[in-house]
Amino acid sequence: SAAEKGGYDYFMLKEIAEQPKAVADTLLGRIDEAGSLTLDEVRIPASVLREVDKVVIVACGTAYHAGMIAKYAIEHWTRIPCETELASEFRYRDPIMDPRTLVIAISQSGETMDTLMALRHAREQGAKVLAICNTNGSTIPRESDAVLYTHAGPEVAVASTKAFLTQLVACYLVALYLGQVRGTKWGDEIQSVIRELSEIGTQVEQVLETMEPVRELARTLADKNTVLFLGRHVGYPVALEGALKLKELAYMHAEGFAAGELKHGPIALIEEDLPVVVVVPSPRGRSVLHDKIVSNIQEIRARGARTIVIAERGDTTVAPYADHLIEIPATPTLLQPLVATVPLQVFACELATARGNEVDQPRNLAKSVTVE
Ligand code: G6P
Repeated sequence: SAAEKGGYDYFMLKEIAEQPKAVADTLLGRIDEAGSLTLDEVRIPASVLREVDKVVIVACGTAYHAGMIAKYAIEHWTRIPCETELASEFRYRDPIMDPRTLVIAISQSGETMDTLMALRHAREQGAKVLAICNTNGSTIPRESDAVLYTHAGPEVAVASTKAFLTQLVACYLVALYLGQVRGTKWGDEIQSVIRELSEIGTQVEQVLETMEPVRELARTLADKNTVLFLGRHVGYPVALEGALKLKELAYMHAEGFAAGELKHGPIALIEEDLPVVVVVPSPRGRSVLHDKIVSNIQEIRARGARTIVIAERGDTTVAPYADHLIEIPATPTLLQPLVATVPLQVFACELATARGNEVDQPRNLAKSVTVE
């Protein structure tokens, strides 16, 4: 009903708008006054976490993209090798695990069959399993050694939005907590990232306030057949998520690529007026990445692509190559997906509407896939 949708036309719009609160709620009570993480609810003792020598993340769909981003954060802040794998592939390849392996299963519903089967397989091999889940008492947390709940509230729209942002927050919390418990050389950075993480809800709010041009742009692209998405580093999973949203909602051919792979194939797809969304990392800090993606943008633009560029506010070097510029607030590199994903959600939702599609219930899809 209209009341359930809180005045929005679709649950998806309501859930996109709820993201600042979902992010804040997921942080609530998990950072103490001294700026340290308190994850006592993660019932895996610190002594066990200190012995972990490998992290394996399993998930499906949008949750898998959160897991891909988590890999960058976990390896950087903890120096523990981390791999992220599609739950449906994981257990069929005889993966190597032992009691020092920490498996993280990410699932909004807590009922996805492939993710459940992957964690059962992991526990059989003696691995410890931590669930990141949005649904209290669902099967995946019940069968795990520990759970860190995301506090997105119920997500109704089939295409995941607020659950994804809170999965990212939970992954960062786990990564930072592992770093804190193990005392890595990134101690100072961990402290400052924890501070910046507490600001992120406000920044998501700022992004939401500037989405009208994104909606206008989406409407002008309603008759296109294909949209490509490019990113590097954590922007790569963001590109995959942007493409997934467009497939799910707009039923358009959409692909995400690592920008560095352009010349190994995707550049052959570029033709006059093809829309290409590019996620640009911050020009500060890791500026090598930034400069490389700016030259990727020049390469595709020279071949006729219509460039839709998501870049940090005040990034003047990229602006001349953007046919459409979508500005996002400055964040630490690893946290950028929390703000960069939001315009892509709005973009897909508006394109779906413009194409006359059912936003909350896309054809052929289910909110929770409880069969293999
Ligand atoms: C389905 C949903 C997606 C979701 C995926 C994983 O495909 O349509 O939105 O990302 O399942 O679901 P889970 O509940 O495990 O996060």
